[in-house]
Order: sequence, then structure tokens, then C-alpha cells
Amino acid sequence: MTKYIITGGRPLNGEISISGAKNAALAIIPAALLVSGRCRIENIPQIKDVTIQLQILQHMGADVRMVDSHTMDIDCTGISSPIADFDEMRQIRASYYHIGTLLGRFGEAVVAMPGGCDFGGVRPIDQHVKGFHAMGADVEVRNGVVYAKAATGRMHGAYVNLDVVSVGATMNIMLAAVLAEGITVIENAAREPHIVDLANFLNSMGADVRGAGTNVIKIRGVKKLTGGTYAIIPDQIEAGTYMTAVAAAGGSVLVKNVIPRHLNCISSKLEEMGVDIINMEDSVLVRRRGALHRANVKTMPYPGFPTDMQPQIATVLCLAQGTSIITEGVWDSRYKYVSELLRMGANVQVNGRIAVIEGVKRLTGAAIKSWDLRAGAAMVIAGLCAEGVTEVEGVNYIERGYENLVEKLRSVGADIESVYVPDPEGVEEEEAV
Ligand code: UD1
Repeated sequence: MTKYIITGGRPLNGEISISGAKNAALAIIPAALLVSGRCRIENIPQIKDVTIQLQILQHMGADVRMVDSHTMDIDCTGISSPIADFDEMRQIRASYYHIGTLLGRFGEAVVAMPGGCDFGGVRPIDQHVKGFHAMGADVEVRNGVVYAKAATGRMHGAYVNLDVVSVGATMNIMLAAVLAEGITVIENAAREPHIVDLANFLNSMGADVRGAGTNVIKIRGVKKLTGGTYAIIPDQIEAGTYMTAVAAAGGSVLVKNVIPRHLNCISSKLEEMGVDIINMEDSVLVRRRGALHRANVKTMPYPGFPTDMQPQIATVLCLAQGTSIITEGVWDSRYKYVSELLRMGANVQVNGRIAVIEGVKRLTGAAIKSWDLRAGAAMVIAGLCAEGVTEVEGVNYIERGYENLVEKLRSVGADIESVYVPDPEGVEEEEAV
């Protein structure tokens, strides 16, 4: 098993460059299945979830070639079956985009139900199914496999009003709609930057998607998508994670290769907490010298404060003067990591979706665990600002979504190393799902 060993208390100073957006890449890579011919995708982050998504396409028969460390050529012409029921599908949540892409291309999909981070319960796909159903598909789940089939052999356009704002459902319905007969309208659509990125990718290949970034998206089905080249946007959450790391540990870091507008929801909260933020064209300077102020945070769909930044901001607030209240507005439960912060001396009480944080003067190093991807990032932040040595276990979760986290943090002065520790019972750490 691999652990991170962090000696805390060092301010961070220098520059960090942000990789391509995980959540955009995880939808754009399967979208290549809708393209006739080869497409080149640039700025792909080198992370475990992306590797699995590429393996899934290869398993289905795609020709995937690495052009350089962050660029892939993908040609899905060789895929001839709508069946994607194999193990890699169960390892990541984003494998569910293959329901939309296979329905779009073949009018049929047989797809293993996805895995993904566990936020304390099931992660439903009823809104995806509602959309596919409106577009003419019968959908059934049997023995952990989704069977979906368009009654006429081809999906048709439809009006879909989502009951909840869902990123996954918005993207999946969009994927099923680009090659459908007629016009699809998604109302109450999610507005996250990765939704706009997926629409831009599809449009650059010849699709007709309008309104992405607003809550009404209109997709006019086209006969065919043709190949091209597309570069994925920078990762909003990776950038936000390093911004909160600077807020927690102190120092001054230029976070480069970002779209500052995508970070406004995070930047404004950090400013409220006493952190200096200076936006430039494609970078953000983050500086923290004085004390941190308390703040209340409510997570919401974009452009609200992202649920994927909740564990990181909560960790910073553990060191802010006064009482802060966090309200988790997207998931029923996303506070498993709080038990680890308590071991480090934090004062946090959780009641359902609410966490009440009484700021403390310091956190102290301890042996702690990552519970999921973003909670894992928060544990690293806790280690960076704690007194003494922190050991973080379960880093396979973190490496699913952060490219070169250890190297990036070391480059700005953090004392963090990744060490391999043989398991005493000889059992290897389980793969993250
Ligand atoms: C959500 C986040 C996304 C984040 C990801 C992982 C939002 C709106 N989305 O995306 O930014 O990257 O978690 O942390 O903040 N839901 C249903 N039925 C469905 C689909 C979703 O009820 O068919 C509910 C979920 O239970 C959840 C909410 O809708 O309460 C948002 O889900 P959704 O946006 O689909 O989740 P992700 O795409 O995983």
C-alpha cells in the first residue's frame, strides 16, 4: 500500500500548473464513440479514472493511440457491438456515459452499472433513465446490468425536464441526443464548466448543441459527427484544491493554466475568509498571510460552491477564528472524513447535511485515512497545515483524480513524500471504486 508522509507547517510558495479537467475528460473520451473516424483529444489529465475510461473504449474495440503524455488519438470505427458489460465498467462512475453514447450510435446499450465514490448511499441514475425513456428507449436494470433499447432502432428527440439538477444526467442525455432524429430540449440542465466543454467538443465534431452553460440545452440531432482536434479545459476542482491548500498552509502561489471565471465560486469564499486572490488572464495568485476568518458554505450546483470542494474548504475552516457552518446541498452524506479531522484536533459536529466547525488554533499530525477522492485531498491539506507528521492512507483514491499531486506540492515547498509500505498481512489495498 502507498502512503503519503507529510511534515506540516511549511508555507507554500511558487507556481503550480493545473491539468485538464477530470470530469470533462471522463465524458469527452466516451463521446469519441459517436464520432465517425479519428479524433484527437489534447490536455487529457494523466489520472487513474481516465486510464480506466480509455481501457473501456479499447476493450470495446476502439483504436487508442498516445500522441504525447496528454494527447490521444481515438478511432472508434472498429466498435461494432452495443455491449459493454465487463469489469472496468464497475470501477468508475463515469462508465455510465456509455449508456448515452451506445444508445446514440446503435440505438441499444447493454452496460454494467457504474461504481464511483461512495457518499453514503446509492448514486441514482433515474434522471438519466427518464431522459432515455422520453427519447424512445426502454430501459431495464437486471443483475447489475442496464439494458436499454430504442423501440424504433434509433433515438428520437424529446423534451426532458429534469427533476433534480444532475451533471451526469445532463451529459448522458446530451450524448444520446446528438445523433438522434429531431430536437431534444433539456430543461433544468446542470451548468457546470464540464457540460459546456462536452458541448464544445461535440460541436467541434459537427454536432448542433446550443445553450450549454444555461439551464436549457437544445440539441438538434445530426446524421454524423466527423473527426477533429479538441483540447479539454483546465480542472476547476484541482485548481480549487491547491487554492485551499495555500489558504490552509499560508504562502503565495500562482495557480496557472486556469479559467479564473470557473473559480469565482471558490475565490469569493476564500476572499471572505481573508485570503488574497488576484485574477489574471489564465492564472490566479493566491496569498494568505494573516488569520483566517470564519465563513458559512452551502454546496450547490454550478455556479454555486461545488460539492467537490466541500471537504477541502471544511479543512481550512477548522483553522478559522469563530464558528463556521457547512451545508451539503447536493449529497445526503459527505462527511465521513470528519472523523479523521477530529483525530487531528479539529472541533467539528455533524448533523445530517450540516457540519458546525469551531475553529481551533492548530491541527496536529496523525495517521489518517482517505475515504474518497476529494476527502483524500482534504486529508493532504490537513497534513500540510498540521504541526508534526501526518500519514495519509488510501492514496489510491487521491490518485484517481489528481495528476502528480505529490510532485506539484513539493515544487511549492511542501514536505510530502509517497512511500510504499508492504501490507503486514500481505494483502494489497483494494482498487478504488
Ligand atoms: C455531482 C456534482 C458534480 C461532482 C460529482 C462528484 C453537482 C450538481 N454535481 O455530479 O459537480 O463532480 O457529483 O462529486 O454538484 N440525482 C438523482 N437522480 C439522478 C442523478 C442524480 O436524484 O439520476 C441526484 C443525486 O443523488 C445528487 C444530485 O442529483 O443528489 C446531483 O447528482 P449529479 O449531478 O448527477 O451527480 P454527479 O454527476 O455525480
